[in-house]
Amino acid sequence: MNGINRSLTLTLALATLAGLTGCNSGSRSTKAATTTAPATSSTTTAPTTSTTTTAPVASQAPTTTTQINWDTPYQATPAVQNDSLFALHLLASGEVLTGSATGAVQRVDPTGAAAAVSEGSFGAVSGFADANGTLYLGTSQPFFMGGNLGQVYVRDAQGNWTLSLDHPLPGVAVVALGGDLYAFASEFGNGVDATVSLLTAGATTWQQDVATLTQCQLNKAVVFNNTVFVAGSDNNTVSGGLRLFHGSGQTFAEVPNMPSSTSGGNQLEFSTDIKVIKSELFLASTIIDTQTGNVIGGAVYQSADGFTWAAVKTWTNDSPLTIAEHAGLLVAGMVSGNIEVEDPNGNLVQDTGIPANTGVMSLLELSSDTLLAGIRGNTGAELYRRVTTTVTTGGGGNTPPATPALSYVTDVKPIMQSQCGACHGPTGLAPAVASMPLLFNDDAADHSTLVSRVNLQTPDASLLVEKAIGNMGHGGGASIASGSADHQTLIQWIQDGAQQ
Ligand code: HEC
Repeated sequence: MNGINRSLTLTLALATLAGLTGCNSGSRSTKAATTTAPATSSTTTAPTTSTTTTAPVASQAPTTTTQINWDTPYQATPAVQNDSLFALHLLASGEVLTGSATGAVQRVDPTGAAAAVSEGSFGAVSGFADANGTLYLGTSQPFFMGGNLGQVYVRDAQGNWTLSLDHPLPGVAVVALGGDLYAFASEFGNGVDATVSLLTAGATTWQQDVATLTQCQLNKAVVFNNTVFVAGSDNNTVSGGLRLFHGSGQTFAEVPNMPSSTSGGNQLEFSTDIKVIKSELFLASTIIDTQTGNVIGGAVYQSADGFTWAAVKTWTNDSPLTIAEHAGLLVAGMVSGNIEVEDPNGNLVQDTGIPANTGVMSLLELSSDTLLAGIRGNTGAELYRRVTTTVTTGGGGNTPPATPALSYVTDVKPIMQSQCGACHGPTGLAPAVASMPLLFNDDAADHSTLVSRVNLQTPDASLLVEKAIGNMGHGGGASIASGSADHQTLIQWIQDGAQQ
């Protein structure tokens, strides 16, 4: 294979990673066994995980139950196939800015209660940076696939963005150190040097290309110990490894002896994210076979000082695209669509509650019990929300239920409206309406219509459940997928007593 083909293959692989092609990399199948179908509306939640720990006291011991629920507060409309959320930023208002691979910037209410507001479109958003209250974003062709982005935009208080820097190189990563903004410009695969540009606090003009970082591509930067660390890889489409630089002002130096998880030639290991987690520096990487274009592995590395690095975990056939701290734990979002969370022994293990998606691109801790994940969903860019609820019961006195019972109005009605209403609703299909009419403006009537079709003793044998998943020759076929979040919600609701 000649160099041109190789670089094309690599570009395709990176495009797949970035979610811009429909290619289905074999590595994604690793998620199948543990995923559940995506929630279909912002109001649908599915209890997905619960762990119970009982204190070692013989009687009247309090029991703590941790339950994880996922929902989808934001889905891009119109959906752009294979788009993904590259960057998330929490605003002082509590809203979240999302930046997508196709460039859309949206202001999203993370509870899903208010509709998202568009703030424009800027080419692929590589990241946001807050310089003492002034917000910037950088653009880059996704994973440096050529093209001519490489811009920095600045946001005013009304949410209007204006161009601040238009760099000739096709990608920039931005980071703020206090009020100073840094833009690291680079290009994928052509042996071109990366550069550092600086906009100091209060200045209106950039000091462009104040430092040169030799033959590397850079994609994420972070501030650690009052120093900027910027990560990437060799600027090479055949083979290469991680590159990391540190510095501030006009002075940057390379961190030598970076670790490697490649095993032989024709492999490129590049950094996908660098973050401060638990007061240490963490770096995530992906390894591509540059001849086949496949993701063949990845790693998360850890360093207490930014200079001495050790692997926390390595993967084959999957890799982390983003890392974050959540509730004091390391969390990784994977190419496979999984999320891995640190367990009590400090090992990254698969989170059992992640809904189906095709790549987790960004993570944001909203609070100690709420984590946001920007993903490439089946219908494009989506924001998932993971909420942890801890309930303590027992220990004497009244024992309330471990988790609140599901109700028709809160949990089941949204499913009926979105999945069943087209046929069983007021303007539905005659045979469906004849067999099970749903009014949607009379909860008591609809509740009793449904309750007459449930089996409280054997919830999953209920006519309602069987027909919903396409068993028993349902005229509507499988309106909800067996094993999906909606399916689980229906069963849980019946288990909880099918309350209105
Ligand atoms: C595409 C149209 C369509 C959709 C969507 C649909 N159904 Fe149906 N459903 C029908 C038709 C037609 C019938 C009547 C024939 C039959 O019994 O299969 C029916 C019958 C039923 C029955 C039997 C009612 C009875 O007691 O006779 C149940 C229960 C049911 N559907 C549940 C659901 C649920 C729950 C959903 C949503 C998860 C749903 N259906 C979505 C078309 C649909």
